[in-house]
Amino acid sequence: MPCWVLTDYHHVRTVLSDRRFSADVRQPGFPFLSPGRRELVGEQPSFLRLDDPEHQRLRRMMTGDFLVKRIEQLRPRIQRIVDEALDAMIAKGQPADLVADFAFPVPSLVICELLGVPYDDHEYFQELSRRLLDSTAGPGAVAEALDALTDYMAQLAASKKGEPDGIVARLATRDDLTPEEVASNSVLLLLAGHETTANMTSLSVLALLQNPDQLARLRAEPELTRGAVEELLRYLTIVHNGLPRTALEDVEFDDGLQIRAGEGVLVMLGAANRDEELFGDGDRLDIGRDARRHLAFGFGVHQCLGQPLARVELQIALATLLRRLPELRLAIPFEDVRFRTSALIYGLHELPVAW
Ligand code: HEM
Repeated sequence: MPCWVLTDYHHVRTVLSDRRFSADVRQPGFPFLSPGRRELVGEQPSFLRLDDPEHQRLRRMMTGDFLVKRIEQLRPRIQRIVDEALDAMIAKGQPADLVADFAFPVPSLVICELLGVPYDDHEYFQELSRRLLDSTAGPGAVAEALDALTDYMAQLAASKKGEPDGIVARLATRDDLTPEEVASNSVLLLLAGHETTANMTSLSVLALLQNPDQLARLRAEPELTRGAVEELLRYLTIVHNGLPRTALEDVEFDDGLQIRAGEGVLVMLGAANRDEELFGDGDRLDIGRDARRHLAFGFGVHQCLGQPLARVELQIALATLLRRLPELRLAIPFEDVRFRTSALIYGLHELPVAW
């Protein structure tokens, strides 16, 4: 289907923060990247794909769980999870696959604990989420994976109703949510909570290994970790396929660009994050630059709910990995690294490393 592809930083920010652009998948003209993507929505869209006031009503039920203050309290627990994953990877011996042995287990375990999802089921839900996020998967395959994941979550939620701990139990216990709303929004948190940070972690390690000067600087100055994580978020921009929106009214931008009511728009975060005025020499990874105005977490009302959690996980994972494995290196030639080019969230299939 025809749609606009916006790459300019100011256009991208305007679309994401202007109520005249809708994130509701049910709008006619909503741009889907493929027939499979249309199926990803399911019958009950999560708040990611709804507009206010429905979006706000649901999002508000979870904002407290992801506030910076709340997530900061989890630092010791996340540090322990990171250390244990590293202990296990080291004990298994080298070469190891950093994706399967470190990057996925850490955020998966963290989000499972927050939601109250049994981590023992991780192979099942990780496989389903891989299928769901593959942009080349056909509509049948996506619908099947979404149904399976939604059923899994609905059963879990039903069994947790009335229990005191975990986000799923809390949502299931509310009487202003339907079981379908509980399942669909819990699936969103489970998917968004592990796929993103996992892929950011492995890509960040690869980017640092490919930029030895930046890696050496970060090892020498670990106090740069927070800024380095922001720069890696900008440089890698793993939500790389364009955020979809539909214009509800005719819109004219400051520079004269006109988008008509009903037209679909894809906003490209990766292009905006290489805006030359804001991030000069944007193709260069520079952990010392001020990258805070990047749009890797989106912008406006749908800006990533989990960003405080993603930041803390990435800061702890990278700092701990560099500290504990000073000789970390790729175990295969860079040319043989396999990228998840066809996934909605960019990443690596595997990252063989030695130390
Ligand atoms: C939304 C990126 C980690 C939960 C978003 C959006 C982006 C994004 C770009 C906006 C989508 C849109 O406007 O259409 C990322 C990146 C992450 C990350 C790059 C990691 C590096 C997480 C984590 C969670 C999470 C750990 C934890 C649960 C969500 C949710 C939304 C969202 C619930 C929907 C917010 C809304 O519609 O109001 N994320 N995310 N994300 N993210 Fe993240």
